Amino acid sequence: NSEVKQMEKKQAKRRIVLVPVTLQGHLTPFMQLGKALSLKGFSITVAQGQFNRVSPSQDFPGFQFVTIPESLPESELKRLGSVEFTIKRNKINEASFKDCIAQLLMQHGNDIACIIYDEFMYSCEAAAREFKIPCVIFTTTSATSYVSRCVLNKLNAEKFFSDIEDSEVQEKVVENLYPLRYKHLLPSGLGPLEPLLELRREVVNKRTASAIIVNTSSCLENSSLSWMQQELKIPVHPLGPLHITASASSSLLKQDMSCIEWLNKQKPRSVIYISMGSLARMETKEALEMAWGLSNSNQPFLWVIRSGSIVESFPDELSKMVSKRGYIVKWAPQIEVLAHPAVGGFWSHCGWNSTLESIAEGVPMICRPFHGEQKVNAMYIESVWSVGIQLEGEVERGQVERAVKRLIVDEEGACMRERALVLKEKVKASVRAGGSSYNALDELIKYLKTD
Ligand code: UDX
Repeated sequence: NSEVKQMEKKQAKRRIVLVPVTLQGHLTPFMQLGKALSLKGFSITVAQGQFNRVSPSQDFPGFQFVTIPESLPESELKRLGSVEFTIKRNKINEASFKDCIAQLLMQHGNDIACIIYDEFMYSCEAAAREFKIPCVIFTTTSATSYVSRCVLNKLNAEKFFSDIEDSEVQEKVVENLYPLRYKHLLPSGLGPLEPLLELRREVVNKRTASAIIVNTSSCLENSSLSWMQQELKIPVHPLGPLHITASASSSLLKQDMSCIEWLNKQKPRSVIYISMGSLARMETKEALEMAWGLSNSNQPFLWVIRSGSIVESFPDELSKMVSKRGYIVKWAPQIEVLAHPAVGGFWSHCGWNSTLESIAEGVPMICRPFHGEQKVNAMYIESVWSVGIQLEGEVERGQVERAVKRLIVDEEGACMRERALVLKEKVKASVRAGGSSYNALDELIKYLKTD
C-alpha cells in the first residue's frame, strides 16, 4: 500500500517549466515542445523574460505563463549585440530566476518534474541545482550547429584563429564529422571574438543538465547526432520537426493572410517565396539587386519585408516595379505558404525553423545565410541533402535571376524538388508512430516521468 502511495506521489510530479529565449526562432519550437508535452499529460509553465513574450491563447490550453523580472533593458541588445547581451542577461537574471522557481515551488507544492531551458538561458541551472530539480537543455538549432559549437569550444581558440587564416586549414574536414569543415566553425556576424568564446565556454562547460533535446530528425543529421551521443554522455532526444508533431501558433507579429488569396491565383509551383526570418537585416543595395533579379526572372514571387529588415527603407518606385509580379507582406503565415501548391521554391536565410519547415513541405531552397549557424544549415541544404543552391558573395541581379530560373524553371530545380519530396516523406515517417522522432519523444516522456 505504501509503495502504491509512493508511486502516486512520484507520478504526481507532472509540471514542466519551460525557459525559452524570447526571440521568435527560439519561442516557436519551445511552444511546440510545450504543446507536445501537454498532449502527453504534463502541465506546462512557461517562464519568460519581459520582452517579446508569448501570450496565453487557445493553442495553449491550461498553460501557466510567468514573467522572470529583468533588470537589463531590451535596448541593451542593440548596444551590446546578441552575444554580450546573452552573457550579461544570464549573469543578471540568475537571482530573479531562482526567486521565480521558489515561488513556483510554493505554488505547486514541489510538483515540478523538470526545467527545460534554452541552451542560451544557462543560468537556470543554478536554480535547478539549488532546488534539486532535474534540468534538460533544449537546443533550438540543428544538431550539427550544436556540435560545431562544442568542437570550437574544445579547440585551442588562439591557435585555431591564427591557423584558420590558411585556406588549406579552412577546407579541412572536422574529424568524424564529414562534411563539416573547419571554415564552418568560424562564427559569422556575431561581433568580437572574445565574448563569443566566453559564451561558448558558459554554454558548454558549465552544463549540468541530465539530457538534451534537439529539434531535428535522425534522418537529417545522423552523424552529428551520433557524435553528440558519444561525446556528451547524456541522453540525446532528436524528436523533431516539432511543428509537425504539435503545431502551435506563437507568432509575435501579425501574419498577413491576404498572401494566401494571392497565392491561390498563381500557377502550381511557379512562385518563389522569400523570407529572412525574424532577425536578419539586409543592406538596401542587396535588396535592390534582389528586386531587379526577381523581376527579371519573370517568375511570380511572395516577399516578406519585415519592418526594419532592410537597413534603409525600400524606395517607393521599386515597390511599384516589384508589385507587377510580386506580392509583398510584412509577415506571412509561413507554414501555410510553404504548403501551398503554388509555391515552387523558398529563398531563405536558412534559420533552422525555416529549414525544417521547407523540408517538411518538400520545397527546394535558395540559401542566403546571414549570421550565426545559418551558414552550416545552408551547407547541409546544398551539399548534404542536395535540395538547394547557395548564393555566395555580393548579390547581383543577374545571379539572382539565374538562381530563380535554376530552381523554378530548369531540370536542375525539378531534381532538387524530387529529392526534397523524398526527404519530406522520411521526415514525416520519423514523427509517425514507430518513427525515430516519435520514439525519441516517448523516451523523453519516460525520462520525465521518473525521478
Ligand atoms: C533565429 C536564427 O536565425 C535561427 O538560425 C535559429 O535557429 C533560431 O533563431 P530566425 O532568424 O527568426 O531565428 O529564423 P528561423 O529559425 O527560420 O525562425 C523564423 C520563424 O518565423 C519560422 O518558424 C517561420 O515560420 C516564422 N516566420 C517567418 C513567419 O511566421 N512568418 C514570416 O513571414 C517569416
